[in-house]
Parts: sequence; C-alpha cells; structure tokens
Amino acid sequence: MNNRKFKFLSILFTLAVMLLAACSGNNNSAEPETGTKADEETKDAGVVNLYTSRHYETDDALFEQFTEETGIKVNVVKGEEDELMERLTREGEATEADVFYTADAGRLHWAKEKGLLQSIESETLEANVPENYRDIDNEWFGLTKRARVIVYAKDRVTPEDLSTYEALTEEQWKGKVLIRSSENIYNQSLVASFISLNGADAAKEWAQGIVNNMARDPEGGDRDQAKAIAAGEGDVAVMNTYYFGQMLNSEDAEEVKVAEQLGVFFPNQETNGTHVNVSGAGVTKHAKNKENAIKFLEFLSSEEAQGQFSEANYEYPVNPNVEPSELLASWGDFKAQDLNMSELGKYNADALKLMNEVEWK
Ligand SMILES: [Fe+2]
Repeated sequence: MNNRKFKFLSILFTLAVMLLAACSGNNNSAEPETGTKADEETKDAGVVNLYTSRHYETDDALFEQFTEETGIKVNVVKGEEDELMERLTREGEATEADVFYTADAGRLHWAKEKGLLQSIESETLEANVPENYRDIDNEWFGLTKRARVIVYAKDRVTPEDLSTYEALTEEQWKGKVLIRSSENIYNQSLVASFISLNGADAAKEWAQGIVNNMARDPEGGDRDQAKAIAAGEGDVAVMNTYYFGQMLNSEDAEEVKVAEQLGVFFPNQETNGTHVNVSGAGVTKHAKNKENAIKFLEFLSSEEAQGQFSEANYEYPVNPNVEPSELLASWGDFKAQDLNMSELGKYNADALKLMNEVEWK
C-alpha cells in the first residue's frame, strides 16, 4: 500500500469510528477532536465497540470509568436485544461490534446458539463470575443478577400469607395476581426455570393457575404491576428487584409513594429457591478488538464495577467478593434457584409454547 493510500484509509477509518460514536448517542465519547493530540491518543489506545440492550445511567458511568482507566474508548450502540442479534447476524464478519451485552440469560444462550459469540480465555472472568452464571464454553458471562420476586400490598397482605410462586395459583389469590405479558423475556425465563426444575407439566399447571388468578389482562412492564397494586387492582405482583429499587429511589414522587406501600418477598425459600436471571455479555464471533473486549468484560466483573451495579442500579453483584448494596441487603438474604443460566435459554421455546397454550397474553 502506498503512503497516500494508507493516509487516505486511516482518515477514512478515523471518520468511521467518529461516526459510529456519534450515531450511538453515547455521551461518553467526547466531541470529535480532529487532528489533535487527544484524537491520536484515543486512536492509539484503541476502542471497543459495544451492542447493548441495557439502558441504564450506571452503565454509561462505568464505560466512562473504563475509558479513564485504560484509555480504551467505548463506542455504544443501543437497541432492543432481538434487533441487535438480527443485526449481528446480518452483518456477519463485517460487524463493528466487539461485545454483545444484554439483560437475560436466555438471550445470551440464543446468541451463542446462533454462532454470534466466541469462547474466550480469561482467568479474571473465571474468578469473578461463578460457574453457574457463565456459559460452559466461556462464550458469555453474567455480570449482574436480578431476582424475580413477589411484591405485595403491605396494608392488605402480610409475609405470612406468602410462600411460593406455586401458592399464587391457589384460590385465595383469585383476581389478585398482577404479572406482565408472556411476550416478556423475564417471564419466559421464569417459566423456563420451572420447566428445568419441576418438569414441563408442572410448569404448565403453574402458568394455567396464574392465568386463572390474574387481576387483569397483562399490560405494561414490571413497574406498572407495582402501580396497579397501589391502585387497588390486585394485591401481589411478580417483579424484578431492581425495578423496585429504582422506584424507591425515583425522581418521580408518585413512584416512590407506590414503592413505599409495597413489601418484597423472596418466594420458594423452603423449596427450590427464588428465580434469578443475569444480565451479561460476550465477545462477538467477529470482534476486531478482541483484547479490548476481554479487558472490558473483566472490568465490568471487577469489584469496583460490581459495587456500582449494586449501589446505583440495584442489581445483585455476581462477583462473590462484592456485598450487595445497603438497600438490597435490607431486603434480606435469600436462596436462589440452583440452576445453570443456560437452562433458561434451553427451555425458552418450550416456555413460550406452554404460555401460549394456557392463553397467557
Ligand atoms: Fe429490565
């Protein structure tokens, strides 16, 4: 390659990287500083290109911190998880993405099955992420845990009234159970966990019982179920813990008021444990910046980052050396389902099928 051609190509590359940063709407990326020393430094230090379906301020702050510590710039493309997976498939070898980051183990498992990820070697990740929260071939790693719990109206229900997910199908809860639609991946993973632990028949019976006891046709997200309890539409809801934390700490006074009326209950403590899922990430099959991608995942699994996920986004750390934040600790310790997260992906299609069969909307 002659010098002029090389120069032209480097300019083109710089422009492409800048464009990607601008398109991603990532406010970590500083204003483009064409031809300045800062720009050269950024380019020398390298980049990591991320496709993520997560949408939390905590993540943005962590990415910024990673750049500060390593000099590696994080270019962020945000989107719906299925959209991003389709995009990765479509782009194939040409993809810019080095890391795929999403909020459900089922989706991570799918990404692996579709051949979108690659196995990596990292002693740090193996030490920081327990075995049941990462892929058996190290194609993806859980980075935060979320518990799917029961929340209840403190003025109408006491913790003594509650026990298991299964008990929500009993007569006493007829017309009182709030839960979102079967289209939602968190519910699909919940049912997938029941298939894995109790078998398909028991899982279907549960889903049928929940549909029978629903306070209304499913609508809205987890937070909307909590709001419906406060509005008196039902007495109990199934919800991820971090949404409850977000509501308690919300800038919206109404959300705080709703959350204050509710209690958190960890079901199945005497049986097979509360359902947990992970948010996690893997290095893409065609990553161009593999080393940076691994460093990025290692950083997110570090004690420092894990503490932030817990403090600021109310998620449970996966790193066993990190204690949950004060708020999470105040809800108490709990026993989680003893499942490898891959099971959630393995039984996703079966879960969706049986939810459709019982007409869970
Ligand atoms: Fe979520």
